[in-house]
Amino acid sequence: MSLEQLIKDKIAASGPISVAEYMELCLAHPQHGYYIKQDPFGSRGDFITAPEISQIFGELVGLWCVEMWAQLGGGPMALVELGPGRGTLMQDALRATRHIEEFHASLSVHLIETSPILQTVQFHTLQNLHERIVWEERIEDLPDKPTLFIANEFFDALPIRQHVQTANGLRERRVGVDDAGALCFVMDGNGLSLAKGDSSIKEGTIIESCQMGKAVIGKMADHIRQHRGAALIVDYGYLGDSHQDTLQAVKQHLYHPVLSEPGDADITAHVDFATLLEVAASHGVATHGPVEQGKFLVRLGAELRVERLLATADDEQAVQLISGIKRLIDPAQMGVLFKAIALLSDHSFIPAGFYVPQRP
Ligand SMILES: C[S@@+](CC[C@H](N)C(=O)[O-])C[C@H]1O[C@@H](n2cnc3c(N)ncnc32)[C@H](O)[C@@H]1O
Repeated sequence: MSLEQLIKDKIAASGPISVAEYMELCLAHPQHGYYIKQDPFGSRGDFITAPEISQIFGELVGLWCVEMWAQLGGGPMALVELGPGRGTLMQDALRATRHIEEFHASLSVHLIETSPILQTVQFHTLQNLHERIVWEERIEDLPDKPTLFIANEFFDALPIRQHVQTANGLRERRVGVDDAGALCFVMDGNGLSLAKGDSSIKEGTIIESCQMGKAVIGKMADHIRQHRGAALIVDYGYLGDSHQDTLQAVKQHLYHPVLSEPGDADITAHVDFATLLEVAASHGVATHGPVEQGKFLVRLGAELRVERLLATADDEQAVQLISGIKRLIDPAQMGVLFKAIALLSDHSFIPAGFYVPQRP
């Protein structure tokens, strides 16, 4: 039976489901989930991410990790990636830092990944790059030691709920089935009466919330507060309320109707950075950013790194290097929509990329 039919049967049995439940079924259903049944990356896949566009992304993230490790006093460190995809970011980060022997000798590498297919791809990509690489199911399973977390385009894959401001109060937008038997958005019957102050929200406004994102960042913050460490999160999203529907599906590099062919298209939502930062701060860690991805990469030395690589590149490689880094940095492409935030156990310094370097 298809995932679409399974979802329709579920709705027939117990009524419309939340957008979060729909997203979770589409992405992580044990048999039909988008990330469970295929490798969705690359030009022949459905989408492409920053590390897949340019090696410079992972290389600079690797250098950021070395800088954090040194600033935190060196010594044993767990390097943890959430949602590593094909393992390309980690591959470039480890390769770019391998000459810093003390750093590599201090590391254990931990990958948290739901997709069995992507775990296998990660194993093949990374097996020769480090001696201690382990896959963990949950943040709670990580070792009790200082930790560096990295997460690129991970939070956007976590399920969101949506509420809409109506004349009858705030109502949940859910997924149901229409008279013709197709999946459709429906409004939950019961409106929430508005708290004082919320009445300023205009009718039609959509408010999104991501419980899982809040839970994950809370656990990351707890872990680095207890054991010391830092976290770097890069994703696309907004600061403040989005006030609109940011749910989107992508198939073969094109936007796709969200309710069509569930499980066969990637579904994401923009990340609410303000809430992530607020939750992390409430768990006692220092928070930094957001900084636009373009600015962040330039501050870490992206342009210098391109120049270095161009010195030994042939014509075809040079074209790829330049177009790749332009795509990551250009405000009209990924440079502004994508943003970086950082968490730190140490409140006494600002991490690289989050301050403007002063010229001597
Ligand atoms: C958009 S991909 C990004 C991959 C990679 N970070 C990159 O930049 O290329 C999202 C990744 O998160 C993983 N993922 C999604 N939800 C997850 C969850 N709840 N726990 C662990 N991994 C998850 C997916 O399988 C995939 O590897």
